[in-house]
Amino acid sequence: MCGIVGYTGERLAAPLILEGLRRLEYRGYDSAGIATFEQKGIKVVRSVGKLDNLFKSLENTTLSGTTGIGHTRWATHGKPSEQNAHPHKAGSIVVVHNGIIENYSTLKSKLINAGHTFMSETDTEVIAHLLYYHYKQTNNTMSALLKTVKELKGSFALAVLNEAEPSRIFLARLESPLVIGLGKGENFFASDMPALLSYTKNIVFLQDGDIALLTPDSCQFFDFSGIAITREAKLVDISLSQAEKGGFPHFMLKEIFEQPEAFINTIRSHIVPDKGDIFFEELPENFIKNFKKIHIIACGTSYHAGLIGRTFFEEISNIPALVEIASEFRYKKNFFSKDTLYIFISQSGSTADTLAALKLCKSHKVTTLSICNVLGSSISQESDYTLYTHAGIEIGVASTKAFLTQIAILLILALKWGKEISVLKQGISKTFVSDLLKLPRLMESVLKQSEKIKEVAKKFYKYNNFLYLGRGINYPLAMEGALKLKEISYIHAEAYAAGEMKHGPIALIDENMPVFVINPTGTLQEKTISNVQEVLARGGKVITLVSDGDKLHHKFTEHLIEVPHINSYFDSLLTTIPLQLFAYYCAVLKGTDVDQPRNLAKSVTVE
Ligand code: M6R
Repeated sequence: MCGIVGYTGERLAAPLILEGLRRLEYRGYDSAGIATFEQKGIKVVRSVGKLDNLFKSLENTTLSGTTGIGHTRWATHGKPSEQNAHPHKAGSIVVVHNGIIENYSTLKSKLINAGHTFMSETDTEVIAHLLYYHYKQTNNTMSALLKTVKELKGSFALAVLNEAEPSRIFLARLESPLVIGLGKGENFFASDMPALLSYTKNIVFLQDGDIALLTPDSCQFFDFSGIAITREAKLVDISLSQAEKGGFPHFMLKEIFEQPEAFINTIRSHIVPDKGDIFFEELPENFIKNFKKIHIIACGTSYHAGLIGRTFFEEISNIPALVEIASEFRYKKNFFSKDTLYIFISQSGSTADTLAALKLCKSHKVTTLSICNVLGSSISQESDYTLYTHAGIEIGVASTKAFLTQIAILLILALKWGKEISVLKQGISKTFVSDLLKLPRLMESVLKQSEKIKEVAKKFYKYNNFLYLGRGINYPLAMEGALKLKEISYIHAEAYAAGEMKHGPIALIDENMPVFVINPTGTLQEKTISNVQEVLARGGKVITLVSDGDKLHHKFTEHLIEVPHINSYFDSLLTTIPLQLFAYYCAVLKGTDVDQPRNLAKSVTVE
């Protein structure tokens, strides 16, 4: 949801900021803008649409400033237009913002009464005016910022320039990501690390309630009361190649192909292959024994990972698990309990609903554990314990490798849990660990089928509707397959528990409603085959995703995709891949924008 980036130093700021915006475009792409300190004050250039339009607008403009800020937008308040694009200016103040200001309309009325005139429909312009209002009274930007952040309700990562103070960038963070990159005689900031990695790997992760003041030679930190605080820089071990396509036509395809490596990177630090042991240094000794239940909360694809995790916890570790969508959980009646472990899953670690649900849990003093991919994100900072998925930077808006690594963490946590409470015998766990290590090679073998999956996609991408079916652990996989298809190819897709089809959706079946059935070897396989027969009997077209060497489906389904089989838990890490590839190829064949699908953004930092 919006990306912000900025630079102060001796180099020309504009090219660095535009390069940073290019790397943040996955966060929002309906308008963009830049502001730099020029000789006659701050110059703002904005344009509607993708970043390329901003580049075009800048073709006949010279920006020679060495300090500046930029923004790429995902619209919340006000349609995508040049007027609503950031940066916003009020008097001498210029602001870019990622987040949402919930009390903007009250503040706006107050400022209009005080004589301010607004040019846009955005909540962000209110911040610029509020800052200018306070600045006029104090003649001090920092005091104005301190007063402003206290009045704002909502979430924000803010960068502020004041015409009166060249070479200075004021930053503030509350529930929206913001990182600072330290250089020599120059400093940077951005919503996310990919925008900084070409220039520095010396990163400070700002925390909620932090303010920072950047100049070319210094970086000072304060809390919202203006008291100086310390924030240490970390040298991040992430290469820029992670944020590049590396020869692939899309980030999504690259990220699908990175899954074997992402998987091994995620589990590597938690397993001892010789002993068949699993451990989590991040968790205290006997941590697991404190809990009798698990409650998983997440959104979108991460929610689907949670549903798969529930099967692991219930079937492998014999512990009851509940899974809920964060936006529902945060507003319903909940029964908080100290013997429940609340698990929050989020790739970005900044999804607004998941963060709010986490805060709600914390206010009830229950134990929270987050599974996040982005280092230093709000959700990881806020939760009692964090397990990181080491998927690497995920840029494609459609989550792929993050999903697979979330499943991986949930699986090894369930295995550990089962072993610790003695549900799993040592021998079984050893087999599990050695099977885990076989998975990357098996994933590679699934990836080798991408051309075959593309051929299947060629036969189906023109359909307008799709049904995905699965039972047990394959039902959330069906949900994830359907989500992938709809978000990037815009084909309407619905997932159903296969046994539920006869209770309504079967009425939809005809030759125009293809059905994607996920049915690898497992205890419920024959039941699902009956459902496939019901579809075929009504003229439906079926694609089936089955285990290698399957003898049951060949007879009656034309389109078959096979994946290796270990057991139904481990298979979920393999069946995921064809679902991603099928959605990817349908989207490519339809000619949609795979990495930046319409109306979406990578991290949903607004409610
Ligand atoms: O960053 P998170 O994992 O919290 O994001 C949750 C969802 O917004 C995300 O999974 C979304 O559904 C993706 N676009 C799915 O591909």
